[in-house]
Amino acid sequence: MLLADFIRDGAARLEKLYPSPEARGLVLMLCRELLGVTNYTHIVEPQTAVPEAQLPELTADLERLCAGEPIQYVLGVAEFCDRRFAVGPGVLVPRPETELLVAEAVRTLQEMDLERAPRVLDLCTGSGCIAWSIALDIRDAEVIGLDLSERALGYARNQFGGSGLVRQSPEFLQADVLDTEQVFPYGPFDLIVSNPPYVLERERAQMRPNVLDWEPGLALFVPDDDPLRFYRAVARWAQRFLRPGGVGLVEINEALGPETAGVFRTAGFKNVQNLPDFYKKVRFVRFSA
Ligand SMILES: C[S@@+](CC[C@H](N)C(=O)[O-])C[C@H]1O[C@@H](n2cnc3c(N)ncnc32)[C@H](O)[C@@H]1O
Repeated sequence: MLLADFIRDGAARLEKLYPSPEARGLVLMLCRELLGVTNYTHIVEPQTAVPEAQLPELTADLERLCAGEPIQYVLGVAEFCDRRFAVGPGVLVPRPETELLVAEAVRTLQEMDLERAPRVLDLCTGSGCIAWSIALDIRDAEVIGLDLSERALGYARNQFGGSGLVRQSPEFLQADVLDTEQVFPYGPFDLIVSNPPYVLERERAQMRPNVLDWEPGLALFVPDDDPLRFYRAVARWAQRFLRPGGVGLVEINEALGPETAGVFRTAGFKNVQNLPDFYKKVRFVRFSA
């Protein structure tokens, strides 16, 4: 089968689920990853064929995409902060806006200019994308990530083969972040970060099936009548474990910017600010102890 035909037919099938440019982008990504071709190989070399031996895998993966499965699960990797994180069913696919949280976290730690290893706590760590990105960008950082989901922690612990790239791999522990008074023999921390669940149940209707049907509800949703429960919990963890002068950074629901900032003001933190994402939407809160 010609590569150009596979791309055309695959994109046409995916257009039932995705807008046309995205459908085409997904097939191109699949071909790049599996065949090592570029996005324009089929244009500049129109006779390029899909190697027979790879056709079954490519076709099976296209079927998974047509069933609505996220491409990151199909490929087993998600790009985040210029690195490739292992992902799959049971763990949230890292989102581009969360890269801004990491950039702010790294800038904050650099500005602290500590003469010792910085200590960082990542609440609701999921794939460990935030924890690992900080550990890889800040030499010697001691990072602890917590999550309730053992499945997510399995990914977090094994990113990058578990170690090798950093002197100090992050430590990942199972814990219920909502249990704010639990015994926790770590800290104090210089930075506490969190991208907790924050999607309202009533926002389900606006979400795409490839997220709703595939990504874990535990990672996404909070009850409509208590949307800020994780931020109250983060504030309590910060009261207990953030050192004086330490900084907190959380990703938030864009519809709840002032309310979420209010949680941290009420909890007594200083310099509470809403920060925007690429689209100037309020997507983060920063505070200090
Ligand atoms: C929005 S995801 C964020 C994952 C990751 N930090 C990221 O940015 O991609 C939220 C994470 O919170 C975890 N979670 C949900 N409820 C929790 C709880 N009560 N305690 C700890 N983690 C929880 C989920 O398992 C999920 O991994």
